Amino acid sequence: MSRKARAAICRELNKPVVVEEITVDAPKRGEVTVRLGACGVCHSDLSATNGTLAMQLPLILGHEAAGEVVEIGEGVASLAVGDRVVSSFIYMCGECRFCAAGRPVLCLEQGKAITTLPDGTVRTRDAKGDPLNIFSGCGVMAEYATMHVDNLVKIDPKIPMDRAALVGCAVTTGVGAVFNTARVVPGSSVAVFGCGGVGLNVIQGARIAGAGRIIALDTNEAKLAMAKQFGATDTVTVKAGEDASKVLKKLTSGGPDYAFECVGNGELAATAYKAIRRGGLAVVVGVAKPGDSTAVRTMTLPFEEKTLTGSYFGSCVPRIDFPRMLGLYTAGQLKLDELITRRYSIHEAPQAFADLESGKNARGVIVF
Ligand SMILES: NC(=O)c1ccc[n+]([C@@H]2O[C@H](COP(=O)([O-])OP(=O)(O)OC[C@H]3O[C@@H](n4cnc5c(N)ncnc54)[C@H](O)[C@@H]3O)[C@@H](O)[C@H]2O)c1
Ligand SMILES: [Zn+2]
Ligand SMILES: [Zn+2]
Repeated sequence: MSRKARAAICRELNKPVVVEEITVDAPKRGEVTVRLGACGVCHSDLSATNGTLAMQLPLILGHEAAGEVVEIGEGVASLAVGDRVVSSFIYMCGECRFCAAGRPVLCLEQGKAITTLPDGTVRTRDAKGDPLNIFSGCGVMAEYATMHVDNLVKIDPKIPMDRAALVGCAVTTGVGAVFNTARVVPGSSVAVFGCGGVGLNVIQGARIAGAGRIIALDTNEAKLAMAKQFGATDTVTVKAGEDASKVLKKLTSGGPDYAFECVGNGELAATAYKAIRRGGLAVVVGVAKPGDSTAVRTMTLPFEEKTLTGSYFGSCVPRIDFPRMLGLYTAGQLKLDELITRRYSIHEAPQAFADLESGKNARGVIVF
């Protein structure tokens, strides 16, 4: 059946998001309809509203949500009505060499569902009946969403929706970058540039992995206080554009073993690379503007054997990593309660974006 839902939409770049009543159509083959319980507001959603991430408008935002399955389409065997699920924003064809190798974040077909469902169409319409695009096959900043089964992972229904939602991006991106991409080893030193929803999860991932030294860097003092709560052993307040590599080299006698860039800035990626010790690893997690670039001193590559790499969605396999993250939460190792600074109603979505932009929240979550 078709359902009415309120949704947060970007209609025009660099304008506040708008909340509209939309129609969400029934699931087709391989799809299900989900009633959302909560959706986190990620910097990538903000990036879609200002053109950093070029996405076709009008766009229903949201890619970090938890909900309950209310209707299933033809041929769906892996989910049933009543199942609790978390959204996953990567498209997995299941057939290409990367999917076959267990690296679905690199799926060769991911271009198929950037702002639509995998079949290239959407189940969402506005009041005039015009189609509405959806963020990364999700568009879950809405009361209902019809999605492909491969963009959903079944989870333990005992986990509250608002906390479970965070696993759909911030937690898996941050902790996954530490566990899966970098494979941080116990006793090592880690620097984290940017302590927002993603960076705080890199910090707690590093803590869980047993890093000996975790140095948090941010321009915002309030974020550094949060970083301490998540496991940072040292904090450094930086000015935008400042080169913090010398400070890091001094603090760690030669540079940290790992550095994570969690802001989305080419210059900062270069600083992260510059800061790491010989043989170290710098991981870019932040998503920079399309025209941005990063320069490294070429000679350091052979003489210092340093690595600069990236991490997309924590190099995760959603069906393995989401339950793993929630297991860490249940075991008391992963902090999710502390990540939510403020909860908003869907009507307050414009405020939630403004608060993200001004750096007020670890994570803001819209609850339905
Ligand atoms: N790789 C992925 O799969 C993936 C997934 C989700 C988000 N992201 C990206 O990660 C980045 C962070 O996302 P978020 O939701 O945590 O954002 P956020 O806005 O919550 O956090 C960004 C933090 O960076 C700090 N900051 C800004 N400029 C800085 C500077 N020059 N030096 C140090 N700190 C600085 C801010 O004060 C803020 O605390 C964004 O670019 C987002 O698009 C990437
Ligand atoms: Zn995100
Ligand atoms: Zn694939």
